[in-house]
Amino acid sequence: MTTVTNAKDGFRFTQPDDDTILRAALRSGYGMAYECSAGGCGACAFDPVAGDFETLWADAPGLSPRDRRKGRMLGCQTRAHGDVEIRCSSAAEYVPPIRPQRQRLRLLETRDLTHDMREFRFAGEGPAEFLPGQYMLLDLPGVQGSRAYSFSNVANDMGEWHFIIRRVPGGAATQVLFDELRDGDVIGADGPYGTAYLQSGSPRDIVCVAGGSGFAPMLSVLRGASAQGMLDTRKACFLFGARNVRDICGIDELAALPGFAGAGQFLPVVSEVVGGESWDGPTGFVHTHLAASLPRPLADYEFYFAGPPPMSQAIQELLMIEHKVPFGQIHFDRFF
Ligand SMILES: Cc1cc2nc3c(=O)[nH]c(=O)nc-3n(C[C@H](O)[C@H](O)[C@H](O)COP(=O)(O)OP(=O)(O)OC[C@H]3O[C@@H](n4cnc5c(N)ncnc54)[C@H](O)[C@@H]3O)c2cc1C
Ligand code: FES
Repeated sequence: MTTVTNAKDGFRFTQPDDDTILRAALRSGYGMAYECSAGGCGACAFDPVAGDFETLWADAPGLSPRDRRKGRMLGCQTRAHGDVEIRCSSAAEYVPPIRPQRQRLRLLETRDLTHDMREFRFAGEGPAEFLPGQYMLLDLPGVQGSRAYSFSNVANDMGEWHFIIRRVPGGAATQVLFDELRDGDVIGADGPYGTAYLQSGSPRDIVCVAGGSGFAPMLSVLRGASAQGMLDTRKACFLFGARNVRDICGIDELAALPGFAGAGQFLPVVSEVVGGESWDGPTGFVHTHLAASLPRPLADYEFYFAGPPPMSQAIQELLMIEHKVPFGQIHFDRFF
């Protein structure tokens, strides 16, 4: 067991020998800044001050060449050995509402949603406690490093954790998930993580935008809103950016969602209609249809979005710069 001290504010937490600095901080209830937990975003970068540090993924793209020159490290890809001192950012918004825990998950069943999107249903060791929009880190056999996957269901006492995952050609984790994992197999998991979760107290109408596999957390957010009765008094709009017509999914899931049929609107947008496909709906980049799809000024809504980093960047700029939506009404995950 190691003690990590943040020289910025003097806060101390312990890190078990097999943990990372970021996960140990969050497990202890400390709000160390982070986003992806997967080495991609750089939000958890810290300056080492004193002590012995082990880098788990040397080439993690979350560190820029300048960060590397300055000796910065990623909290999600670093393990401390012996007591250490660091200088890192922290804020109340990163304090986990539910403390992340490691557990084993057993695969119950899978179901194909499209040609490359599959739902995976796992059973855990106790009740499944998380907020709609959060994610879990999965450890798959033979795969270096954990992968983040967003929940597509909502918290439940049966201990079921559902994910909707898109196969990435040549991807290490998705190859194991799609081609090797069998019903009954057990994997390692750690969570919940993530700050882009449903704001139950917000009175505003809900707008969800997903690109590709970003569908999973948006479905969880809408399922959460439905389960909590939020759709009785709020409207919801879901814009889903699909590459081709065959990538559209979710119509059945949303139709089955109590409250969504009356209060909701599902708007798939196809970026490229390929030969042989028939489509008379909206085309192009999903964010370009946002303003025209909503009847009121954008600053009146609560926004949730998930998907590829360029899509997130475009939506953030649209909302914050063009439409002056306050940052507190914008909740997103970038899928690195
Ligand atoms: C917050 C978040 C939520 C996500 N939710 C979903 C979801 O709901 N559905 C979905 O389909 N996808 C989701 N993703 C993407 C997912 O985590 C994977 O990146 C994707 O499935 C591809 O994984 P792969 O191993 O098949 O591909 P690969 O190309 O082999 O790996 C891709 C990612 O794995 C990580 N990685 C690679 N090598 C290492 C290493 N040595 N050590 C540590 N990490 C490494 C990096 O983050 C990299 O971007 C999410 C990503 C994030 C950050
Ligand atoms: S949280 Fe560590 S790089 Fe994203």
